Amino acid sequence: MRTKIVAGNWKLNYDKKTTNKFIESLKKSVDKLPLNNTRVIIAPTFVNLSSAVEKVEKSNIEVVAQNMHQATSGAFTGEISADMLKAVGVNTVILGHSERRTYFNETDQALAEKVNTILEKGMETIFCFGELLEDRKSDNHFEVVESQLKNALFHLEAKDWKSIILAYEPVWAIGTGETASPEQAQEMHAFIRSIIEKKYNKEVAEKVSILYGGSVKPANAEEIFSKPDVDGGLIGGAALKVDDFTAIIAAI
Ligand code: PGA
Repeated sequence: MRTKIVAGNWKLNYDKKTTNKFIESLKKSVDKLPLNNTRVIIAPTFVNLSSAVEKVEKSNIEVVAQNMHQATSGAFTGEISADMLKAVGVNTVILGHSERRTYFNETDQALAEKVNTILEKGMETIFCFGELLEDRKSDNHFEVVESQLKNALFHLEAKDWKSIILAYEPVWAIGTGETASPEQAQEMHAFIRSIIEKKYNKEVAEKVSILYGGSVKPANAEEIFSKPDVDGGLIGGAALKVDDFTAIIAAI
């Protein structure tokens, strides 16, 4: 059985005080849920990771980072390394979010390097990818997704995939209020699994958790999560309210 995951990507939101208050409150509501096989994850900003890790102690909530530099050290002003994250108790990193690709020019090549660093350091990644609106309109979405995965992940060996969580996030659905229909999500997730099976084998394809991201909210979470190849969600806006995030976790 694949691990289910609900992850909240906080982006550029919440200072230390709000982060800590949020975690206190989320702990209480998550405690009441039957989590079974579900991982609950939040991704606060870098400066609040350390205190957030302390705050989630003895709870079912995990703290992950929103990004990481591929180099282990050096002249990269403003960047954060894998070891720095590990030193504050963070072992999982979101990579390749469309906002990083769009606003910070992250390329597939840079992402392949980041993924390599993740593996070298014994860490795990939630790897994001997805097509633009024009790709979908021109019926190019499968090709785009396949090339994103090929360029950044298909150099890995089968054994490396235990450290990879995928997050399919059609860019046109991120923060827009527009969601891929459950059928569109399922169709893409099944396609992703099929190309992984072709490249590797059935075991790798069946084991990897594939999250859907893009305007998931309490009202649509259950239907999206009910699809057989959707193993959870990467949540932006709706992860910023404890009640909404809890309702989404409860929907899985
Ligand atoms: P959204 O963001 O839920 O606000 O659309 C999702 C994401 O960016 O991961």
